[in-house]
Amino acid sequence: MKVHVANHPLISHKLTVLRDERTDSPTFRHLVEELVTLLAYEATREVHTETVSIKTPVTATKGLKLAKPTPVVVPILRAGLGMLEGMTRLVPTAEVGFLGMVRDEVTLEASTYANRLPDDLAGRQCFVLDPMLATGGTLIAAVHFLAERGATDITIICILAAPEGIAALEKAFAEIALPITLVTGALDEKLNEHGYIVPGLGDAGDRLYGVV
Ligand code: URA
Repeated sequence: MKVHVANHPLISHKLTVLRDERTDSPTFRHLVEELVTLLAYEATREVHTETVSIKTPVTATKGLKLAKPTPVVVPILRAGLGMLEGMTRLVPTAEVGFLGMVRDEVTLEASTYANRLPDDLAGRQCFVLDPMLATGGTLIAAVHFLAERGATDITIICILAAPEGIAALEKAFAEIALPITLVTGALDEKLNEHGYIVPGLGDAGDRLYGVV
């Protein structure tokens, strides 16, 4: 698995405000969108393009456009939804699929409760959005779900990652030839006994949308 930890002062600045427990939900949502746009810039470095001919007001020339089929963006509900706007702002022609996954807070096991995705993902570049790579359980289940539909090109974008989550993803997909890229805003220290990222930012879904 290719892991890219963003290293940019603007990302670090926004992350620091995001982590601060005093940051309210509207500011948190806005910052998540901004961060995802910055991370998406890195995550789409290998997006498929095709050469096209155009005419500028001066001359005929060639340029690059996003190739078809366009990428599929897959936010993992609920917290991944807060990342969608920031991603589609950068890639407005992407299709959007949804994957609803919930983590049992005791066993930390992830299960799928809803999905809206193309049946055939062969040849599609998939960008999975989930703000927190903690134990890795949710993302491992999500990647399996996409791979079962034929996806072979998967990039995960998260705001924060824990070393335990990265190790779990690497272990889960070590045996199969599925190239996965992870782009994260920061690599944090560890998980605590409740499966929360330390220092982290708390529960991303609650901070985006409130405790419901
Ligand atoms: N999910 C969250 O929202 N926060 C964490 O720290 C870990 C998992």
